[in-house]
Amino acid sequence: MEKEGPDRQLANHTLKGNGAAPMRRPGLRSCRILVLGASLLCATTLAAAAPQDKSNAPAAKMAPATDYVGAEVCATCHEAEGKDFPTNPHSKMVLMHGSNGVTCENCHGPGRAHVEGGGDVTKIFNPGKGAPKQVDQTCLGCHAGAHPDFERSPHAKAGVGCASCHSIHHSEVKEQLLKVAQPGLCFGCHADTRASFSMPFHHQVPEGLIKCSDCHDVHGTFEKSNLRSRNDSNLICTKCHTEMRGPFVYEHTPVKAEGCMGCHTPHGSQNARLLNMPSINMLCNQCHSPVASATIHGQGAGSSELAPCTSCHTYIHGSNMNVAFLR
Ligand code: HEC
Ligand code: HEC
Ligand code: HEC
Ligand code: HEC
Ligand code: HEC
Ligand code: HEC
Ligand code: HEC
Ligand code: HEC
Ligand code: HEC
Ligand code: HEC
Repeated sequence: MEKEGPDRQLANHTLKGNGAAPMRRPGLRSCRILVLGASLLCATTLAAAAPQDKSNAPAAKMAPATDYVGAEVCATCHEAEGKDFPTNPHSKMVLMHGSNGVTCENCHGPGRAHVEGGGDVTKIFNPGKGAPKQVDQTCLGCHAGAHPDFERSPHAKAGVGCASCHSIHHSEVKEQLLKVAQPGLCFGCHADTRASFSMPFHHQVPEGLIKCSDCHDVHGTFEKSNLRSRNDSNLICTKCHTEMRGPFVYEHTPVKAEGCMGCHTPHGSQNARLLNMPSINMLCNQCHSPVASATIHGQGAGSSELAPCTSCHTYIHGSNMNVAFLR
């Protein structure tokens, strides 16, 4: 088993080709530069997406700097949000602004009118009440680089937005700002998937050993089922099951042709080893004619009453020693 190191995210991003330079957060680079260069540009992208602005005009429409009041002012009335904010990853935005502190307003839009109205709720954007698309635009204003495929993901298309899974002020997992930790977060909507992880043989996701996001990137990918993008689809599995990765001197054709899913189910199964057939011999005989096998193995061999094929063909995923995967 390969250790799940902290650089896994980096590997994903690099594979996706989001910039050649190894950066931990490639998605934020553009915003960082924007923020440093023209301190309110990110914020104004957000302001443009605020509910009052039905035209959904491009970011070019900049709100004047005087429309912003700064986080200290917000905190005078919103004590809870202000108090919790220093532990929020978004508090790093303070540093980017050279401590002029427009953090809150980067997401909520310019707040002066709201403040001067004594907390007029019609003058401030509350993502908690916004339409998913509108909130997504706000977040993607800074995170699109890391999650460029979100808008065409099955989640976005179904109206499941950032705020369905993330909460800025009320998160159970502070690090990733998840509303609820995995897999509970996912099972909340994917009840049928919970059923497959309750089968006798399953990847230990409910037990917390591995996560849904080890195999899926819910922010959208070029693969079906939101599977993480890899240059070789078997890498979804062989990043952990390194012993099956190969290459082998003698490859078993279907491992490369059909992929791991040619013989296994990924979530859970009634069958040992997560096989997609109830017996090993049935699995093999789908492709290897029992009749032909009989001549090689002797009378009757290859029939499902005999010892499992893999009792002899042990290295079924490929071998460097033997053409028939016997050793
Ligand atoms: C003078 C006090 C005051 C200040 C300063 C203030 N707010 Fe408010 N804010 C309020 C009040 C009052 C409400 C309504 C509270 C309620 O309905 O529970 C409110 C509501 C909100 C809401 C929720 C709106 C909704 O639709 O539910 C957000 C978001 C918000 N404020 C953000 C901010 C931000 C960001 C700042 C700083 C730019 C800020 N506020 C500064 C008083 C203030
Ligand atoms: C990264 C974006 C972001 C930043 C930065 C941010 N907020 Fe929010 N805020 C949200 C979202 C999203 C919600 C909806 C509830 C949630 O997701 O927690 C929200 C909700 C609120 C509300 C409504 C009450 C509630 O908790 O639901 C208030 C008030 C508020 N924010 C104030 C602030 C203040 C004050 C700051 C700065 C200290 C701030 N926000 C910074 C995104 C942000
Ligand atoms: C103005 C830019 C900006 C906006 C808008 C913004 N973010 Fe962020 N976000 C950041 C920055 C900067 C960080 C800190 C990155 C870091 O740790 O390197 C961050 C961190 C995060 C993290 C934690 C990342 C991690 O490393 O684990 C999550 C999750 C996140 N943001 C989600 C959201 C969501 C959801 C929204 C919309 C409600 C949003 N952000 C809006 C700039 C932004
Ligand atoms: C279906 C649930 C779901 C939705 C929708 C979702 N996220 Fe996430 N997000 C997660 C989970 C789970 C993680 C942690 C695992 C991972 O990194 O994939 C995460 C991690 C992150 C991170 C930190 C790690 C990274 O890859 O950068 C950021 C930033 C983030 N999400 C932003 C967003 C933004 C912005 C949106 C909306 C455009 C969004 N997310 C929509 C579930 C979701
Ligand atoms: C070991 C890797 C792995 C893990 C962990 C994993 N999945 Fe999957 N998932 C897959 C693969 C591979 C497919 C595609 C199956 C196929 O096409 O035959 C898939 C398909 C799906 C689908 C599409 C419908 C279906 O069932 O085929 C959903 C929804 C899904 N997974 C949700 C989840 C959720 C929720 C979790 C965590 C509770 C999770 N997955 C954990 C690998 C994984
Ligand atoms: C708020 C509800 C909600 C949450 C939370 C949620 N999903 Fe989804 N998910 C959906 C909907 C709706 C779709 C699109 C319709 C469908 O294919 O089921 C979807 C689609 C998917 C698909 C693609 C299915 C396919 O057939 O292509 C995968 C994979 C998936 N979700 C995994 C996850 C994982 C992993 C998590 C947790 C990190 C998660 N989802 C959290 C609602 C949700
Ligand atoms: C994040 C690491 C990880 C990934 C990715 C992963 N696995 Fe696993 N897998 C494990 C661990 C750990 C075990 C052993 C513990 C257990 O029973 O869950 C395991 C066990 C198995 C087993 C043996 C189950 C049994 O009943 O003995 C099979 C078969 C398997 N995985 C296939 C796959 C396939 C196919 C994929 C790709 C869709 C995959 N794995 C992706 C970690 C992973
Ligand atoms: C041609 C069918 C086939 C394909 C394709 C296949 N496997 Fe297997 N796999 C099996 C069989 C059969 C077993 C059970 C072996 C046994 O019980 O002796 C197995 C067992 C396993 C095990 C359990 C550990 C072990 O050594 O018994 C893991 C993990 C595994 N496979 C991972 C993978 C991965 C990862 C891939 C894709 C790279 C893959 N398999 C592709 C047939 C296949
Ligand atoms: C999805 C189809 C498929 C499945 C399932 C499958 N195989 Fe194969 N297998 C092939 C193909 C195709 C070849 C290559 C045949 C060739 O080159 O003549 C092959 C080659 C082999 C060979 C080596 C033949 C040689 O080239 O000397 C052995 C031994 C073998 N398979 C055993 C098994 C066993 C045992 C199982 C069950 C665990 C199994 N196969 C499952 C398709 C499959
Ligand atoms: C008792 C041990 C044993 C069992 C059980 C067994 N095999 Fe074999 N198999 C062999 C041996 C030994 C060879 C000959 C290898 C060689 O030619 O070097 C062979 C050859 C093969 C070949 C052809 C390899 C070639 O040279 O073309 C295939 C395909 C194959 N077996 C499939 C199966 C399948 C499918 C099963 C289960 C239904 C099975 N075997 C069960 C021992 C076994």
